[in-house]
Amino acid sequence: MRTSVIYLFVFCLIAFSSCNQESNKVKLTNEDKTIEKKIDDLLSKMTLEEKIGQMNQYTGNGAATGPIKAREKDIEDLKKGYVGSMLNVIGAENTREMQKLVMENSRMKIPLIFGLDVIHGYKTIFPIPLGEAASWDLDAIEQSARIAAIEASAAGIHWTFAPMVDIARDPRWGRIMEGAGEDPYYGSLVAKARIHGFQGKSLKDDGSIVACAKHFAAYGCAEAGRDYNTVDISNRVLHEIYLRPFKAALEAGVGTFMNSFNEIDGTPATGNSYLVQETLKGEWGFRGFVVSDWNSIGEMVNHGIAKDKGEAAMIAANAGNDMDMETSAYRDSLVSLVKAGKVKEITIDKAVRRVLRIKFQLGLFDDPYKYCHPEKEKSQLLSPEHIKAAREGARKSIVLLKNENNTLPLKIDVRTIAVIGPLADSKIDMIGGWSAQGEGKDAVTLLEGIKTAVSSTTNILYTKGCDIWGDSSNTFKVAISLAKQADVVVMAIGESGTMSGEARSRANINIPGKQEDLVREILKTGKPVVIVLMNGRPLTINWLAGNVPAILESWFLGSQAGNAIADVLFGKYNPSGKLPVTFPYAVGQIPIYYNHKNTGRPKVDNINPYCSKYTDIPNEPLFPFGFGLSYTTFEYSTLKLSTNQMKMKDSLTVSLTVKNTGQSDGEEVVQLYIRDLVGSVTRPVKELKGFRKVMIKTGESKDISFTLKSSDLAFYTKDMSFKAESGDFKVFVGTNSDDCKEASFSLTE
Ligand code: NOJ
Repeated sequence: MRTSVIYLFVFCLIAFSSCNQESNKVKLTNEDKTIEKKIDDLLSKMTLEEKIGQMNQYTGNGAATGPIKAREKDIEDLKKGYVGSMLNVIGAENTREMQKLVMENSRMKIPLIFGLDVIHGYKTIFPIPLGEAASWDLDAIEQSARIAAIEASAAGIHWTFAPMVDIARDPRWGRIMEGAGEDPYYGSLVAKARIHGFQGKSLKDDGSIVACAKHFAAYGCAEAGRDYNTVDISNRVLHEIYLRPFKAALEAGVGTFMNSFNEIDGTPATGNSYLVQETLKGEWGFRGFVVSDWNSIGEMVNHGIAKDKGEAAMIAANAGNDMDMETSAYRDSLVSLVKAGKVKEITIDKAVRRVLRIKFQLGLFDDPYKYCHPEKEKSQLLSPEHIKAAREGARKSIVLLKNENNTLPLKIDVRTIAVIGPLADSKIDMIGGWSAQGEGKDAVTLLEGIKTAVSSTTNILYTKGCDIWGDSSNTFKVAISLAKQADVVVMAIGESGTMSGEARSRANINIPGKQEDLVREILKTGKPVVIVLMNGRPLTINWLAGNVPAILESWFLGSQAGNAIADVLFGKYNPSGKLPVTFPYAVGQIPIYYNHKNTGRPKVDNINPYCSKYTDIPNEPLFPFGFGLSYTTFEYSTLKLSTNQMKMKDSLTVSLTVKNTGQSDGEEVVQLYIRDLVGSVTRPVKELKGFRKVMIKTGESKDISFTLKSSDLAFYTKDMSFKAESGDFKVFVGTNSDDCKEASFSLTE
């Protein structure tokens, strides 16, 4: 008797805690409660097959990133209500037609949710996300996501697989272009801005689409920068670096998460119960749904964690993956897995509840054809307002890396300008990778931008000079002769728009082909040369940095690339971008990031050989995180602290004055970093904790202040509790992570 009472008690405890795991973190509003009741009602009427259907996502033919299977069976499934979502169905007319199949044929009439990779614009294309992050302008970032949502929703899309919030410390990894760079603090703010932009104030609002924080988790940490490769990191690094932007996404109310292709600590993320069930849905209390990545359930067979697709489906469903993108493993196996008791029906119900919840929140049950209006689609895409925002966002994203002897800005009445390079007049490359329905024909090239910007008397000469790839230097001659005739040469070189992105890892991140050789030849003419770099990742450009007078980092700036670059070249806009990622000096330094640890033998001089250094190259990167020049100069005062002894419950103000000491008005990104000198575990040499982007007129000074609270100093301590520890700190404020003023303070109980 006593034993059975104990069993009962333990059972209740387990049942209570597992149900609590998903429900007790969030306080429900009345609207939430009404939705839950409606879901209860629906669930009570659905067959097991219909429920599993809601967990099933198929692709259309729009923008697939993997093999596409025959469509007839999919259509039959749609009619039966065995599909919860479609991705890659493009255009309001097509989404309407597909929704009709479901609404007019299925028993339960549960609307589909249409998803698409709307990464940096839908039709009006904004800078690639890494480039946009270089703007350090959170309002502009939010606005670009909003415009992307307005255009995508006008074309029938309810759900974007963005933002990618993966931290990336390895520029070999092609998907570095899709994120906000290497820093978890800044990455978290960018994640929030993008989610607010996509989702608006409410998912019900016109123009709002559901965002998706991806790829959960640590996908950016693939070994050797090779896409899809193994990830093996400590739990501390996972939580402190890689999960932070995901947590921020959750705080911003993101509706969905996508898990990642990689394994982590021996378990593929798609079947990783610690990540999804325990952390995301349990500890963090996430109430939206989790979608797999493309065939990532099926790929658990290759990982060697499941013997077949059926077993993979079981692992994924039990780990908390709610929707199956393109494996059809749920569709094919979940019914029998439930019947065999290997997946509980309650697990299915919980997953379906999450999917239905988002559909209710979007208002799809009120209007399944929401967003499927072809007339609206026409009026929204590429509207003048969107184009204007794309140009503004693009010019804010440009980073001035070098400007010797004030080579830039150029005069608009320059007599003859030679525009040279394989990227100077390539429309398609301007929109970069993952550009949804963006088209090259709508993009402005650098050559076009320059033509519009210069005076009517300026003579423009143009030639490609060479290809992006390839060994031929046959066309150098023409380029050299044009350069000789010019007063200044502007060269657009770098990667093609699709050399970065998914499955685009590179072992060498140099400028491909003969492009650098072309620059060498052009430099020999003695003419001033301005390099406009176009690339989706940091490149190793030591030679360029050492030899050409001016370099502009322009990433892939989107539909208005050419106009935005011209704005900067001719001084209509003073560059204000800062690198959100470190530019290595050599591939051998990778992974490289500013917030590294000190080691027991940090390099202090060039004499001691037994320290942490390379024998053949410097430790320092070519350009540090946060780096970017302006046409003007800024002088930083010493730092003033409101106190040198901060109590845990108090705060500390760090203030300084920044003066514009140059000849033009300009914006500066003032960056604050801290260092915790001694901790229960080792701490990074610097950590970004704040920044301000300020416009300062020439000759003017601006007072800047930052407030630090003990929560800003918190980290995962020895026992993995997230808190600040008392002790000594340094605080740094500067123009980049390397060039700062510093002061000290201590934190006491
Ligand atoms: C695979 C990519 O990893 C993911 O980011 C994307 O959203 C899906 N394909 C859908 O296209």
